[in-house]
Amino acid sequence: MELKNTINTMVDQLNEFSSEVTRVAREVGREGKLGGQAKVEGVEGKWRELTDTVNELENNLTTQVREIANVTTAVAKGDLSQKVTAEVKGEVLELKNTINTMVDQLNTFSSEVTRVAREVGREGKLGGQAKVEGVEGKWRELTDTVNEFSENIATPIREIIKMTTAVAGGDLNQKFTADVKGELIKLKQSLNTMTEQLKRVDIARDEFASMVTHELKTPLVPIKGYTQMLMEEGTIGELNQEQYFAVNEIMNNSRRLEKLIEDVMMAHRLEMNQVAFHAKSFNVKEFLGKIPLSFKKMVDDKKIKISTSKVDSKLTGFADTDRLSEVFTNLIQNSVDFVEPIKGVIEIHAKDNGEHIQFSVKDNGLGIPLDKQAQIFKTKFYQVDTSMERKHGGSGLGLVIVKGIVEQGGGKIWFNSKQNEGTEMIFTIPKSWN
Ligand SMILES: Nc1ncnc2c1ncn2[C@@H]1O[C@H](COP(=O)(O)OP(=O)(O)OP(=O)(O)O)[C@@H](O)[C@H]1O
Ligand SMILES: [Mg+2]
Repeated sequence: MELKNTINTMVDQLNEFSSEVTRVAREVGREGKLGGQAKVEGVEGKWRELTDTVNELENNLTTQVREIANVTTAVAKGDLSQKVTAEVKGEVLELKNTINTMVDQLNTFSSEVTRVAREVGREGKLGGQAKVEGVEGKWRELTDTVNEFSENIATPIREIIKMTTAVAGGDLNQKFTADVKGELIKLKQSLNTMTEQLKRVDIARDEFASMVTHELKTPLVPIKGYTQMLMEEGTIGELNQEQYFAVNEIMNNSRRLEKLIEDVMMAHRLEMNQVAFHAKSFNVKEFLGKIPLSFKKMVDDKKIKISTSKVDSKLTGFADTDRLSEVFTNLIQNSVDFVEPIKGVIEIHAKDNGEHIQFSVKDNGLGIPLDKQAQIFKTKFYQVDTSMERKHGGSGLGLVIVKGIVEQGGGKIWFNSKQNEGTEMIFTIPKSWN
């Protein structure tokens, strides 16, 4: 009886055991259903061990497959932050490594491509290249395409920048030569046409300027001549005091007009690089010695002081001294105009600063307001305060001409100025020809 029961129980357990193991094996093997556990009650010894082994195998497999599924699902959804971490061996380890390498490569790939796209698209930074190592096939192709794209955009834009910078700087001889495609061909043509037209405008402007100044100067010759005759006693007849005053005004304004025409022409010719310079070595001390005398009348009339600082008698400079005189005349004239009578002091300095001779004309006058300082060298006809300027006359061309002469003579010009304290104009000339 007992034996019967034992045998029947054993058969039941074996049945349960085999059906449970078969169920788990079928779920995993045929249906791909993970996480099933064989439930066999009351077995012991080898049967228990076998059941536990089946369950452990099933557990391991489940963890590994679920993790791999999680990571690949995340990648598919665009989340590249997950990695397979399960401890695995053998072929599954290979799978794990392959997946993790893939995630790494996708990470570099996407961050590099994003970087390049962002640089080009958002920051306008050109020519960036995606650096993705070790990828092959489609990934390599895609990386190369992105890099080629970035380079293709950069090349013509760089060419455009080079060309427009040259044109903006007055060099109209640049041509757009880069090989471009599609819409860029139109841009290329437009740019080339534009410079051609600018060239023509430049030539026309040059001709017009010469013509106008010549036409304006011609009638001034007889105007000045006859005015001169009227003012000279006895040539045409006596003038009374009021008539003389009127004729004198005609003379003054004729001279002003003549200077304006000459300044316009000079500024224009400097801009066009048409002014001849006959530079030679000269003695700086000797040159500066003559300056105060030429301003004596102007300075005495306003009861101001002009002085030249001590200069080494051996100091030599290299310049067209006629042009250099024009520079000093303009700068000193400005200082005379913008200092107060009696209080005004103008100092002229010269020193050797190594490669150059550095001159300065310093005054204790009105000064130039900070916000106007950027304009005075650049903008023709620019004057700081029109009400003051009306008294001072002038046309706002002096400093533009001065800058042109200094720079074409191989020097630089700059200034320090503070409102109500004074202005110091500083410029350099070469020491020798080189
Ligand atoms: N030493 C100075 N002190 C104060 N302001 C100055 C001085 N030099 C130049 N400026 C300012 O810069 C402006 C431009 O000077 P610039 O010499 O170019 O023209 P201008 O003297 O007005 O006319 P002109 O063409 O007769 O020289 C002046 O009108 C003045 O406002
Ligand atoms: Mg001036």
